[in-house]
Amino acid sequence: MDAAAITPTLRWTGDSIEIIDQTRLPAELVLLDVRDVASAVDAIERLAIRGAPALGAFGALALVVGLDEAQPDSLDAARELLARLRHEIGDARPTAVNLRWAVDRTIDAALAAPELFGAGTNVDSDSDSGNARSVDELRRLLLEEALAIGAEDARACAEIGRLGREVLAEATVIATHCNAGRLATAGTGTALAAFYAKAAAGEPVRVLAAESRPLLQGARLTAWELADAGIDVSVVPDGAMASLIAGGEVDAVIVGADRIAANGDTANKVGTLAHALAAADAGIGFYVAAPTTTIDAAVPSGDGIVIEQRSPDEVHHAGGQRLTPEDAKAVNPAFDVTPARLITAIITDAGVLQPPYGESIAQALAEAEPAGSAAGRC
Ligand code: MRU
Repeated sequence: MDAAAITPTLRWTGDSIEIIDQTRLPAELVLLDVRDVASAVDAIERLAIRGAPALGAFGALALVVGLDEAQPDSLDAARELLARLRHEIGDARPTAVNLRWAVDRTIDAALAAPELFGAGTNVDSDSDSGNARSVDELRRLLLEEALAIGAEDARACAEIGRLGREVLAEATVIATHCNAGRLATAGTGTALAAFYAKAAAGEPVRVLAAESRPLLQGARLTAWELADAGIDVSVVPDGAMASLIAGGEVDAVIVGADRIAANGDTANKVGTLAHALAAADAGIGFYVAAPTTTIDAAVPSGDGIVIEQRSPDEVHHAGGQRLTPEDAKAVNPAFDVTPARLITAIITDAGVLQPPYGESIAQALAEAEPAGSAAGRC
């Protein structure tokens, strides 16, 4: 393992966010230095940074970038700025709940901190120096919370990997969809963390990575990071996975999640539902791996999950070439919802949740507080 292991998906440099530009993989490993809000939003929208937990860690840090860029001269001006950034950054992608959650958590924690009021009312709060101290303190609080989100995610990934390995102890040939690995988190990944844990334990593992059209996160990103780690990976065309599963060639399926409703219905990269249906028909396990921060208890079921609709151009083109006739239209939902009834278990940092998920999710969130979950905060 070299490139994927030594180059973090995202990193705070001290005054900017360094990210791997995932649109350039696997052809080249290019780093982007994000130091203004427009670049941060652009990176999110064009999937230079992507994957629900990574979006959360990145979005939280982007608030600090936004504060540094605007340099508000008072706490009131900083509050107004954050009110704007809450939406500008938090709404940049609608389905991955971690983005909205992390932006809200970071702003709310910083603005509620008692130190801030201390700084703002210190000595002479109306003076320029009092205002500067307040804004400096706000920046320190935002950064502390944002870095904590990334660190917590890394710990969650490690625990998901440990539990995922246990759940998949009997499985060797395992299918996955999209990329739920180190490129999608601030740690070793969610679904892919189980593969890393199996490999580290010396267990045999052969991964079938669905290519995940139209942006090919499976073919480009999952294959890149697993191959880099020395894990046996084969890219499978999206349309081929169901017949491999039906033919008995797959032991289990594990995927990540972008938003899990209170009843366990799970939004993930479009095409996930087809894997779940095939797995149920073949009688093999279909597992979702996600941190509790991806659970949105404010949404009762999958019907309430907003599905991001992306540009038809992503369907029309691949590798810069037009694939479709000029007169053809395209539909491009980025995610689909797998109903809870098709999910064998949800592997989280708070344990392996079993059906009925309404109960097991509520219990996991209660235990995960106050470390932070999306429950009831969205
Ligand atoms: O559109 P993307 O690439 O951001 O979609 C990502 C996924 O669907 C992942 O499976 C999900 O975010 C889980 S990442 C640990």
